[in-house]
Amino acid sequence: MDHLIIDGGCALNGEINIGGMKNSALPIIFATLLIEEECIIYNVPIVSDVINSVEILKKMGASAEFVDKNTLKINTKSVGNEIRGYDLISKMRASSYLMGAMLARFGEARLPMPGGCNFGVRPIEQHLKGFSLLGADTNEENDFIEIKASKKLKSAKIVLDKISVGATINIVLASIFTEGVTVIENVAIEPHVDDLICFLNIAGAKIIRVGRKIYSEGVNKLHSVQYKIFPDMIESLTYMTFVGACTGDINLTGINFEHIRYVTSLFSKMGFQIDSFYDEVRVKVKKKPLGISVETEPYPYFPTDLHPQFASLLCFTTNGGIIKENIFPTRFAYVNELIKMGANIKNINNSVYIYPSALQGACLDATDLRAGAGLVCAALGTEGKSRINNVNYIVRGYENLVGKVSSIGGKIKLIKGDN
Ligand code: EPZ
Repeated sequence: MDHLIIDGGCALNGEINIGGMKNSALPIIFATLLIEEECIIYNVPIVSDVINSVEILKKMGASAEFVDKNTLKINTKSVGNEIRGYDLISKMRASSYLMGAMLARFGEARLPMPGGCNFGVRPIEQHLKGFSLLGADTNEENDFIEIKASKKLKSAKIVLDKISVGATINIVLASIFTEGVTVIENVAIEPHVDDLICFLNIAGAKIIRVGRKIYSEGVNKLHSVQYKIFPDMIESLTYMTFVGACTGDINLTGINFEHIRYVTSLFSKMGFQIDSFYDEVRVKVKKKPLGISVETEPYPYFPTDLHPQFASLLCFTTNGGIIKENIFPTRFAYVNELIKMGANIKNINNSVYIYPSALQGACLDATDLRAGAGLVCAALGTEGKSRINNVNYIVRGYENLVGKVSSIGGKIKLIKGDN
């Protein structure tokens, strides 16, 4: 199994270009099922979840190729109504978007329960609630999901019982060709939801989000589109935690500062010097940051996908802090890995209490995508060598992490194979 070797304790200085947002690219790739013409999508991050999503659509009959490093040309005209690539689907939460897209295009979808990061049960009852209200029959059994519309889907008013990125996206996808205006309330408003709405509207859809309400007026057809994906806010914030743990001075280019405004305001309170201009942000950390406490909440507040990285950062602060996890109450597998490094950290219920810690290098196991990024943060900030196993998790969401970290002075190597 590939692993990383990090020789930590160096300040980070230099410039990194931030790539396209993984959690936008995934729904947008599956949304091409609604467009039976060629689409060109720019700023697509080369991460394994994206590669696997394209592979699933190719197995279903789509033609797709990267015409340059981050530009995907895809045409799903030849796709049939049978979902294929079950082995890939069960690895990725984002494959759940096949439900909404296939329901809209073919009136049916049958697929294995989508996989995803292993931090607890990942229910989909909100997705299924939306499909049912649009007029489809849904059935879950033996780890398979079957959705079928006996007649054309009809518009509906759908009030989500909880804010869910996936359910919001899936119901928008399913609503595209219905008759009338579907109203979805209590929606997620993460930038990747707006990214998908922009993409679909350029292709001819009629969708508007007003606060936590989405109005989607059904249309007959969508047309080919060229589109550039928003920058990855979690990648931007992850590199900021790295420089917080190591100190240094980095410039991030190709970002959208509006998407990271709330968290960067917290970094400023911690003593980070942050200067943004247009699509760049300069981040300087000259001394140990001040620790603060946060709780994870839906956008625009503190993202759950920054929780593990922030926990590692708090180990390097003058006074530590508390993270209360409100979205995925079981995403704490990283805690035991930080304890291997000597972290003074306690997980009690859905909170983690972190005290300033003198960490040592250790042999660590990434347990999911963001936990892996958190371990990279801890190892970079720690004098001495650390090994991080299960790199396959990390490459799901970070393009060229080794190259980017090396370019700003981080001593990091990818060791291929089982040794
Ligand atoms: C998306 O997952 C992201 N994944 C996650 O990022 C991210 O952590 C999450 O949104 C929250 O921002 C992708 O975009 C591919 P949710 P998703 O539905 O859609 C509960 C990463 O690291 N819920 O917003 O699965 C759910 O259990 C990944 O990039 C229900 O109870 O998240 C959770 O507690 C990890 N029933 C909360 O809602 C449902 O039907 C939010 O989940 C749906 C969700």
